[in-house]
Amino acid sequence: MKAKALFDRDFVVGDTDPRLFGAFIEHLGRCVYGGIYEPGHPTANEKGFRQDVLDLVKELAPTIMRYPGGNFVSGYDWEDGVGPVEQRPRRLDLAWMTTEPNLFGTNEFIDWCRATGIEPMLAVNLGTRGADAARRYVEYCNHPGGTTLSDLRKQHGWAQPHGVKFWCLGNEMDGPWQMETKTATEYGRIATEAAKMMRWVDPSLTLAACGSSARNMPTFGAWEEEVLEHTFDHVEFISLHTYLNNYKDDPQAFLASADLMDSFIEEVVAIADAVAAKRRSAKRLMLSFDEWNVWYRTRGKREGRTIPGWPVAPPILEEIYNMEDALAFGGACISLLNHADRVKSACLAQLVNVIAPIMTENGGPAWRQTIFHPFAQMSNFGRGRVLRGLVDSPTYATDYYDPRGTQELHFPLPAVPYLKLSAVHNAGSGHVTLFVLNRHLDEALAFETELRSFGPLAVEQATQLRHDDLKAVNTKERPDQVAPEPLRGIDCGPGSLRVSLPPASWCMIRLAPAA
Ligand code: AHR
Repeated sequence: MKAKALFDRDFVVGDTDPRLFGAFIEHLGRCVYGGIYEPGHPTANEKGFRQDVLDLVKELAPTIMRYPGGNFVSGYDWEDGVGPVEQRPRRLDLAWMTTEPNLFGTNEFIDWCRATGIEPMLAVNLGTRGADAARRYVEYCNHPGGTTLSDLRKQHGWAQPHGVKFWCLGNEMDGPWQMETKTATEYGRIATEAAKMMRWVDPSLTLAACGSSARNMPTFGAWEEEVLEHTFDHVEFISLHTYLNNYKDDPQAFLASADLMDSFIEEVVAIADAVAAKRRSAKRLMLSFDEWNVWYRTRGKREGRTIPGWPVAPPILEEIYNMEDALAFGGACISLLNHADRVKSACLAQLVNVIAPIMTENGGPAWRQTIFHPFAQMSNFGRGRVLRGLVDSPTYATDYYDPRGTQELHFPLPAVPYLKLSAVHNAGSGHVTLFVLNRHLDEALAFETELRSFGPLAVEQATQLRHDDLKAVNTKERPDQVAPEPLRGIDCGPGSLRVSLPPASWCMIRLAPAA
């Protein structure tokens, strides 16, 4: 099987925004407690942050971190998570049916971000709370001082304002599972009022309105249009969420499913631009893909995914990722990169233990899941200008199914290219990096690409992520069973590159200007 591509340094999609490589920490399961924060762990520092996790986060290289939810935020009183720890309340969390001890809150999160060099992104509660609580939260975090709320932050030990720029106006407000879910009109109104007041407190904010919580929501499309009719002048971003699934155990369909993210992005862009056109507005909203991942084993109904007895930090949503998950995940990375012109922010959901690239054991080690690797490569080497390629690949037909409540939605995919790829050119360093997925399960792909007007290039690094067993996973005992290995046999000539891509593989080929 053969496939071809052509790239020219002047044919460009757009520059990757650093915020494209974000992730997400929610008060959910062991993401915070036992994940990033575990006082008493052998590697914990004086703030209770696990150093072994910090080291892996550094390697993963997320750039921005969304917090504190997620479904959790729609019932969260931010005031519960600040002030002397011993005075903080314990609350029932109705999103995940757990007890929230509030030992970790906004100020600790900001400290954790500062320790990692990651930009904080905060979400406000537009479920059980509203615009008033949101503007007070901004005042507490960002106002320099001289008011009761900003002085309270100082009294709590954080003299300097946190300077949080990126704020999400609620979470998945279209979903019936959300506390105080809303219609598009109700949400559009409350989001507008919250945005107005939050920005009056701090004019430098960047705001994201909630789009649909999935492309398969019955209200998708109509929701975006109505919400943007209200919020268009008040926000810079509209959000999207997607979780890919393989619950039919059909790898070929699963690997194709990332292409539905491309459709979702293009559809949301079309709706946002239609709202702009109706206003004769030159403003272009950007997309915040602020939850994306593979998630299906630990999904489903609330009763099945929670543990009775209102536990603190139970081991829920601990998806163990295998080789084929990493491939579908790699396809999603390529979808995001190839829309770098409009997707200017994205968050892998989530960071540790909960549907996460990093797993830990309480009191024990931390290790990399299979999906860790495509993300780390994308974040470390995907900075620059995404090129608009011409791709010629054989295709296959498949059928993807996505559950919605008790229904099963059918998405026929009649022409899925076996080759899915993205190329990123860093004009500063001269590097060209190819991220390439071969979706054929049994056949290698003879891949040939023309690289026009880059000058002579040489292979600096090339890796393949593959395993004979698509179900192979990384565990505490075998943490590197699925890990990148050298990709050999690359023929890099003047303006061209030829390589055989192994079946069912994700490869990264990094080219540098030849000396
Ligand atoms: O990431 C897990 C959950 O998925 C989030 O809390 C919610 O926003 C989404 O439904």
